[in-house]
Amino acid sequence: MVTKPLVVGVAAAAVLSAGGAMAQTCDLNAYDNMPSNRFVMLDGGVVRDRVTGLEWQRCALGHDFVDGSCRDDPKKQVRSWFSWPDALAEVERLQSAPQFQGWRLPTVQELRTLIYRRCQDPALNTEVFPNAPAWFYWTATSFAENPDYAWQVDFKTGETNAHLKSSISYNVRLVKGELIPTSRKREEKPGDPEDERLAAWDDGIHDTADADILLLQHPNDALAGLPRDGHDRVDWAKVLVDGLIQPRANREGDGEMVVWDQDILFTDTASMPHVVFPHKLHSMWLACENCHDAIFPAQRGGVDISMGSIYSGEHCGVCHGKVAFTPNACERCHSVLHEGSPTKWW
Ligand code: HEC
Ligand code: HEC
Ligand code: HEC
Repeated sequence: MVTKPLVVGVAAAAVLSAGGAMAQTCDLNAYDNMPSNRFVMLDGGVVRDRVTGLEWQRCALGHDFVDGSCRDDPKKQVRSWFSWPDALAEVERLQSAPQFQGWRLPTVQELRTLIYRRCQDPALNTEVFPNAPAWFYWTATSFAENPDYAWQVDFKTGETNAHLKSSISYNVRLVKGELIPTSRKREEKPGDPEDERLAAWDDGIHDTADADILLLQHPNDALAGLPRDGHDRVDWAKVLVDGLIQPRANREGDGEMVVWDQDILFTDTASMPHVVFPHKLHSMWLACENCHDAIFPAQRGGVDISMGSIYSGEHCGVCHGKVAFTPNACERCHSVLHEGSPTKWW
């Protein structure tokens, strides 16, 4: 697959993590998922999270814990941003020192447990993680569908995305220990019909040790019978067009969607079939303001879309890969054959 390099660079990282203009904003009315007393302060700039059982470095890698805060001493020339391979190499190098034994790059599940949901810029508890760069942090988890990418957590906004491992320099926060699973696992009883129904919930998130989970409707039951795409995922566009669901235009249920019936053809697709963006389908359940002008100005050629930008969560990737079908379903966007394009290879 061809991907253009991402434009975010180390220069931007330097500005952010210099820490000068930190402007954390928090919605104090929102639920506080990260009170400071969730953490036990240990010696040497380490904290233990009582909820997950994990120990964390209070400072991002390359920063020093001094006088209760974290410092990035520019004179020391210690690196604090890494490409993904460099981050792994640096962690391996450090592990040989006794004070770093057992410290490692967190998995995406682990790093996400630090997201302060009511705060941004950074989306971290800054008492526990002082002077933390509001920047992207690598995780050890590769993107299952494309090993050139790994998951990162953007601690400016608290969002999680898969980014190209090689292209950009990100921060790293080391972790130690084992994540306490929040879901208990049922005792398996082969042949028991109730156990069979419980097994359907056994996804590592739900608590299958409590049979009350069966009071909930399982997503498989809710989604059974809906049309599927070539990847056997629900084809929500078809569900909508076929009238199997009727989303409301507003909370009150009395408005009408403004449907805009204009296909936009994107032809800068190299040897891939061209891309059709159907306004009609999108505007059947998205207001114009969802896209115009924050994501796309309402004019042709207003933005430079590429697979790199889509995979890093911009342009079409604001939704596709998150709330709409994944960028890996190439054929659903690249649907218009042209001379020199493959006819079918998926
Ligand atoms: C899901 C995102 C999305 C939604 C929702 C959306 N648009 Fe667009 N719109 C686009 C994209 C993408 C383009 C093309 C931008 C480009 O070429 O850079 C575009 C372009 C346009 C253009 C320029 C077309 C041209 O030929 O110059 C107009 C006009 C427009 N949109 C109107 C609307 C209106 C009106 C609505 C709401 C009824 C709407 N759009 C909803 C994504 C959207
Ligand atoms: C959500 C819609 C969507 C999906 C899914 C999608 N693409 Fe694209 N692709 C685009 C758009 C939009 C462009 C930009 C076209 C333009 O600027 O004219 C593009 C551009 C490209 C290009 C041109 C070079 C580049 O990187 O921009 C290639 C090659 C490409 N896509 C391959 C793929 C492959 C392979 C897949 C599946 C793994 C895929 N695309 C899935 C929308 C999509
Ligand atoms: C604001 C969110 C949003 C953005 C931005 C967006 N889409 Fe979509 N798109 C959706 C949703 C929601 C669906 C329907 C759900 C699904 O199919 O997963 C959809 C469906 C589609 C479909 C399927 C249409 C069909 O009839 O099967 C195509 C093709 C598509 N999008 C292409 C694009 C391309 C190309 C871009 C970028 C130029 C883009 N989308 C940007 C939300 C978005």
